Amino acid sequence: MEGLGITVTEHLLIHQKESPAATGRLTRLLQELIFGAKIISREVNKAGLVDIMGLTGEVNVQGERVRKLDDFANHVLIYRMERSGVICAMASEENADIITVPEHMSREDYILIFDPLDGSSNIDANVNIGTIFSIHRKVSERPYITLDDFLRRGSKQVAAGYFIYGPSTMLVYTTGKGVNGFTLDPSVGEFLLSHRNITIPEIGKIYSVNEAYTCYWDERTKKTVNYFKSQKTKGGKPYAARYIGSFVADFHRNLLYGGIFMYPADKKDPAKPRGKLRLLCEVAPMAYIIEQAGGAATDGEQNILDIKPSELHQRVPVFLGSKLDVKKATDIMQGKH
Ligand code: AHG
Ligand code: MN
Ligand code: MN
Repeated sequence: MEGLGITVTEHLLIHQKESPAATGRLTRLLQELIFGAKIISREVNKAGLVDIMGLTGEVNVQGERVRKLDDFANHVLIYRMERSGVICAMASEENADIITVPEHMSREDYILIFDPLDGSSNIDANVNIGTIFSIHRKVSERPYITLDDFLRRGSKQVAAGYFIYGPSTMLVYTTGKGVNGFTLDPSVGEFLLSHRNITIPEIGKIYSVNEAYTCYWDERTKKTVNYFKSQKTKGGKPYAARYIGSFVADFHRNLLYGGIFMYPADKKDPAKPRGKLRLLCEVAPMAYIIEQAGGAATDGEQNILDIKPSELHQRVPVFLGSKLDVKKATDIMQGKH
């Protein structure tokens, strides 16, 4: 029957007592994020019709050409989240420095780190893209915010999630009590619970990596990828190769179907020897989600959530997905096979 779906707010209230992190203020924060994502989703869904595809002509702090939709998404989220009333500061993949909420605006102690638009090189090809977010609490006693308030281990996250803009727009998030997925019903503008308590298969049948970079990998990385290329599933079939090139889309498939996603360190850009993906705004939130769904995430040596960040836009190699696949990859990277 219509109207019987569970909204995000309802879901948070149901689980509020179980999750100390899921306070009414976190609900408020997520509601503002949702409003921002609905605005971005609307623009993404008409990107081919209005002049919002293509490039702005600028280059961001990552050294990447900024796309108009990157810029739009970034401005929408900063504007909306400044007005959430519960955030004291933010960091965006698109901004070199932290963004402190102006003192004249009401602020509390949540800290938001986000990738406003992930996979943006795929926009013109109408491939799924998304928004990734990570939520921390400010723990320092100082009355002002510093970079140190952001350089915290992924294990300290209060919540993490992503929006994926595709055939449907979805929100997938965790507050530390499992992972749930909500699908936007555009006719009523609500995200309704559609994927309850998502868990990733313990072992998968898919490996996901950009093999064009093989020539840039060290021997152990080549050995790790070759393992999955030659591996047989229980049914005796080879693993399937899938790579979309949009982390949110590759991650979402991996979360639902299982397998392993890899973006290893490589030598294609001497300035970025640790690979391309950013720890704070991409990899740590996704590592939190995958662990909450029963999977794993390492940098080839240690659990992603244990890494103490040293820089805001630090990049890390990543091996994430089904627990047994990630263990195998990490063992090979450690020279144990
Ligand atoms: P972003 O659009 O936020 O810069 O992220 C792009 C990332 C990520 O989405 C994806 O996994 C990766 O770029 C793909 O990189 P390659 O094209 O080097 O494979
Ligand atoms: Mn990204
Ligand atoms: Mn991005």
